[in-house]
Amino acid sequence: MSLDNLADADIKDAVMIACAQMVEHYEIAIYGTLCNWADKLGNKNALKLLKQNIDKEESADKKLTEIARSINQEAMV
Ligand SMILES: [Fe+2]
Repeated sequence: MSLDNLADADIKDAVMIACAQMVEHYEIAIYGTLCNWADKLGNKNALKLLKQNIDKEESADKKLTEIARSINQEAMV
């Protein structure tokens, strides 16, 4: 199914935000795993950088959640 088949712009926005959040959650999960590996390997520099990545991904997820609150509401009417 393509977004082109959806007539309602609000529903398209809601779907795109949901997909973007799914990606952010995958990124947070994999960076968490990589942090654990860096920690186990004693690579403090990699651990620091990976934690910064997690912070950025979580920030992006929060922003998407804020946007989704209003967009999802609009998509339901
Ligand atoms: Fe991301």
